[in-house]
Amino acid sequence: MEKCLIAAISDDYALGKDNDLLWHLSEDLKYFKRLTSGHPVIMGRKTYESIGRPLPKRLNIVLTRKAPAMGSGSANLLYASTLEEAFALAASTPFEGRVDEPDQCFVMGGGSLYKQALPLCDKLYLTEVHTTRPDADTFFPAFDKKIYREFSRSELYSENNLTYHFVIYGR
Ligand SMILES: NC(=O)c1ccc[n+]([C@@H]2O[C@H](COP(=O)([O-])OP(=O)(O)OC[C@H]3O[C@@H](n4cnc5c(N)ncnc54)[C@H](OP(=O)(O)O)[C@@H]3O)[C@@H](O)[C@H]2O)c1
Repeated sequence: MEKCLIAAISDDYALGKDNDLLWHLSEDLKYFKRLTSGHPVIMGRKTYESIGRPLPKRLNIVLTRKAPAMGSGSANLLYASTLEEAFALAASTPFEGRVDEPDQCFVMGGGSLYKQALPLCDKLYLTEVHTTRPDADTFFPAFDKKIYREFSRSELYSENNLTYHFVIYGR
């Protein structure tokens, strides 16, 4: 299974503030949905709480060190207490609508998950939003562009007074 990471980051690598996103970009949400549907998604407990529900058509794997107290009430929601366990569940758990071609799982945030998962991921799907947000409280980790090379870059999108590219890095 290809381990992928998907994030929307500003030019200064900002990701979020007050446990929320920094922008609302409808084309980016569509892109995220198109890429991740049918695949397992792995996220930190805070990101899961900020979304508030499991994402449909995906196996949602939530990382937390408090799993037994939280429980799971949904068929497409699982908890994991280590990243290794999360990747193992992603590779082995059947779910309705699972797509095996391409065989991918996606780490989808937040900051703490990206930091831990980045060295383990083969491909990075980054929406590069051309603004700076020094007021953010969560940032994407710096990564070496000699190791992760740019595979592709979309045309420039423009929405809500922001411009952005969909960029794919791989190694
Ligand atoms: N721009 C984007 O693309 C994007 C995407 C996603 C999220 N975000 C933003 O990122 C922010 C949230 O990021 P964050 O770093 O604060 O939180 P987070 O990564 O979403 O969640 C952190 C929590 O995950 C659990 N966790 C992390 N590593 C673990 C491990 N190795 N084993 C077990 N559990 C682990 C812990 O949960 P417990 O405390 O329960 O143990 C930890 O408190 C929000 O602002 C959100 O909107 C942005």
